[in-house]
Amino acid sequence: MKPPALVLSVVGARPNFIKLAPVAWALGKRQVRHIIVHTGQHYDADMSDAFFRDLEIPEPNFNLAVGSGSHAQQTAGVMKRLEPLCCELRPDVVLVYGDVNSTAAAALVAAKLGLAVGHVEAGLRSRDRTMPEEINRIVADRLSDVLFAPSRDGCDNLVGEGIPSQRIQFVGNIMIDSLLRALPAARQLAASNRYGVRRGEYTVVTLHRPSNVDEPRVLQELLRALSDIAADRPVLFPVHPRTSRRMAAVGFQAGAKVRVFEPVAYLEMLSLVMSAGLVVTDSGGLQEETTFLGIPCLTVRPNTERPITCTQGTNRLVPPNRDAIVSAARAALSQTTSVAPTIERWDGNSGERIAAVLCEGARFD
Ligand code: UD1
Repeated sequence: MKPPALVLSVVGARPNFIKLAPVAWALGKRQVRHIIVHTGQHYDADMSDAFFRDLEIPEPNFNLAVGSGSHAQQTAGVMKRLEPLCCELRPDVVLVYGDVNSTAAAALVAAKLGLAVGHVEAGLRSRDRTMPEEINRIVADRLSDVLFAPSRDGCDNLVGEGIPSQRIQFVGNIMIDSLLRALPAARQLAASNRYGVRRGEYTVVTLHRPSNVDEPRVLQELLRALSDIAADRPVLFPVHPRTSRRMAAVGFQAGAKVRVFEPVAYLEMLSLVMSAGLVVTDSGGLQEETTFLGIPCLTVRPNTERPITCTQGTNRLVPPNRDAIVSAARAALSQTTSVAPTIERWDGNSGERIAAVLCEGARFD
């Protein structure tokens, strides 16, 4: 690929913004025009603007304001609005991030227009096609000309699927770039003080996967588990809007012990997580962040596309079952030390590597 004059990044949802930031910083240092398109998949200020602010990402040049909808509606909405923009701008490369609906939509539009596509966070596989993200990953990877993998297992998955190895670049985990840059500010924020909880003695929870929150019986089981955990140690639960509506529907009453509140911005979340005794989640990013920080993490899912967080890190998969979660949480909370592993190329330089691949033709095997 010759050095691009114009790179177009397409992002839509909260985890995308964390992956975009290091690329934007690295491209900002180079002679290349970088245009950011926000699809509008996430639109609430605390799901979007707060991340651009905390991560010092330039304002998006365009917002497609696609909003919420079914998978087909959302994906099609992004495609319809992105296509004319791509035709007008004719970028040299379109970067797509992670595994959300905006990712697959943008990859489809760009590939069909004959534009080069780069996928940041390529190669992750849960091998569970009931998850919409798995479909989005497969589509984005299949259509990409350059695949930026966060870990060796990601490279292996791609090779196993027949992707030519010269397209695969092992650049490392871009989430860790954002984390490392934000760490001093997050430490200074000391968010746990404001919540009146003591370092290492509380649990942070996030849940938003449809498989965990859309089925009332499963959600109730999880909420009971959280109440049990909170009987020992406080539970802080910033609630995703999808989950919030589902919790209201099952009649959940917030108590003094399980403390529910609106989604928090990046720095505040990092600040809470870095001092937590335990994280219970179904997020992809938190599995990686807790591993990097050495914070015990229980992931309420039957599988993960980030196996390295279990084999080398602090992550453990747990079924959506009250007893299983509570006993795993008690075991984790009674642990006195947990060790942060060193994982290859989770070092804060992934954004630079991506920019070097695009602009200087660098190669990372
Ligand atoms: C999406 C991604 C998921 C990612 C998650 C991070 C897909 C298929 N899923 O899930 O991979 O882990 O983002 O948060 O792309 N809503 C608001 N305000 C917002 C955004 C959403 O109220 O700013 C509500 C809407 O009611 C919407 C629901 O949340 O219907 C779900 O939003 P959506 O973007 O469809 O999926 P997420 O569950 O956020």
